[in-house]
Amino acid sequence: MDERTSRITKINTAAAYIEERIQGRKPLAAIILGSGLGQLAEIIEDRITIPYTEIPNYPISTVIGHKGNLICGYLGGKCVLAMQGRFHYYEGYDMATLTLPVRVMVKLGIKYLLVSNAAGALNPEYKVGDTIIIKDHINFMPNPLIGPNMDDFGPRFPDMTCPYDLELQERALKIAEDMGVKLHQGIYFGGSGPSYETPAEVRFFRSSGADLVGMSTIPEVIVARHCGIRVFGMSVVTNVCNTENVERNFNDGEDVVQQANAATRRMIPLFTKLIESL
Ligand code: HPA
Repeated sequence: MDERTSRITKINTAAAYIEERIQGRKPLAAIILGSGLGQLAEIIEDRITIPYTEIPNYPISTVIGHKGNLICGYLGGKCVLAMQGRFHYYEGYDMATLTLPVRVMVKLGIKYLLVSNAAGALNPEYKVGDTIIIKDHINFMPNPLIGPNMDDFGPRFPDMTCPYDLELQERALKIAEDMGVKLHQGIYFGGSGPSYETPAEVRFFRSSGADLVGMSTIPEVIVARHCGIRVFGMSVVTNVCNTENVERNFNDGEDVVQQANAATRRMIPLFTKLIESL
């Protein structure tokens, strides 16, 4: 079996398994919940929870703050699939494995992907706990589309001029304004991690125009855009990046999860209303 056929077989097997478990539900949108943001899954109604370990060909998340369940249920009156726990390149997965769940959810019929993550602030105006709409990204990880093109899903050279859907960003801004919340829009810089950035890297990434830095999200977004899925992304600022050498002063992973937990409470109504509007 060639590589493409073997990948398609894995995707179809996983999709068929999930389809059976979700009992004929037709998810419109998928949500990927980043570090500490998993609690959003708890407000999904009429939930069917499928541990990743039960889904054929699924990777298993190994990171603190990531639970490892696929949840199907209703949010804002719409049927959604939520990934409670995502996969990262730094865990050692290859890009095809890491992004397999996105293609599986495409097979299951989603039209929208909402992604969330914890990120460090490069932009000096951002504070810990801020929630930022991602308006663009800079990818410093390998591109997940390298290898034989998955023609059934999308073109060899997909357009990336509008990775994050403009209309969804406008809607989110309006919803936030109605809620009396001020949201920034920022550019997300994605590195592989797992080491955090050096001060020189922070200054370099800042000078590239990026506002946030993290270790996730971009592979899933590229794959979703390859499939023509409309994407909305949000980051929670869990720490401010250091531009000068200091004694180690933050970030044991736990802090990130705690900050993200607090910000989730603000993100929940926004995600719910955005999904309601789809
Ligand atoms: N750098 C990279 N990834 C992160 C950070 C950071 O400072 N904070 C949370 N995720």
